[in-house]
Amino acid sequence: MTLQRWVFLRKLTAAAAASSSPPFSLPSSLSCCTHVLGFSQSAAANMAEEAKKLAAYSAVDNNVQNNQAVGVGSGSTIVYAVDRLAERVRQEKLNIVCVPTSFQARQLILQHGLALSDLERHPELDVAIDGADEVDAQLTLIKGGGGCLTQEKIIAGNSKCFVVIADYRKDSSVLGEQWKKGVPIEVIPMAYVPVSRVIAKRFGGEVNLRMAVSKAGPVVTDNSNFILDWKFEDVQNWSEVNTAIKMIPGVVETGLFVNMAERAYFGMEDGSVKVRKAPAN
Ligand SMILES: *[C@@H]1O[C@H](CO)[C@@H](O)[C@H](O)[C@H]1NC(C)=O
Repeated sequence: MTLQRWVFLRKLTAAAAASSSPPFSLPSSLSCCTHVLGFSQSAAANMAEEAKKLAAYSAVDNNVQNNQAVGVGSGSTIVYAVDRLAERVRQEKLNIVCVPTSFQARQLILQHGLALSDLERHPELDVAIDGADEVDAQLTLIKGGGGCLTQEKIIAGNSKCFVVIADYRKDSSVLGEQWKKGVPIEVIPMAYVPVSRVIAKRFGGEVNLRMAVSKAGPVVTDNSNFILDWKFEDVQNWSEVNTAIKMIPGVVETGLFVNMAERAYFGMEDGSVKVRKAPAN
């Protein structure tokens, strides 16, 4: 499906959803209200999914060309980017290789029958496409909500062009405006207590060890490390903070991506795509 056709279908779906909205005066029974709330929550979730898809398709269409080595990010938005990559490879017979940023990305590449590579064979990538948990006005990013920040930063750092894809909920003027879970920091397991203490003492806020959901104990990353989530209190000089945190013994990487992204594609609620470019520096 072409992007234009997809956007058109999306608008049709949105119009249908609007016309089937509940009548203005609602019966006051609780079960009805619960039902309406459930409906609007799932409508919001659908809209966010559609926005992710729109951003991903637009970024892949505008940034990937034949004979490129492409870094493939992690997370829920990337699923749509890999769908589109695979579609373009089939339709346009593109010759591209994909380098993953996580175990999840590697699986997506293999499931879609795309050519899998690595930084040993392709140490310099033409483009990397990845999601973000939050993007500020300068294209400073918080990443690592899915725990893959270290490999994501390595891939982004070795790409000629790093492109971010996200839905409208990730678009902020300053970090912390929309994303409330803090900055993820990957640490060597034995160091998680001292690193947490140093960060809270020097930069304020609260630092928590991320716990697993379907397993007892902490989240373990693809690199067999732990993740700390630093809930900061104030807007900071992210370049300085990133460097300072990286210098603490035991820190592997931070989820602050400063001056790395070249462009961000946001899928918006109205079905459009907003592109933000990095400030010239
Ligand atoms: C942040 O810190 C860096 C490094 O010390 C400095 O070059 C930059 O000007 C600072 N940015 C702001 C906005 O103060």
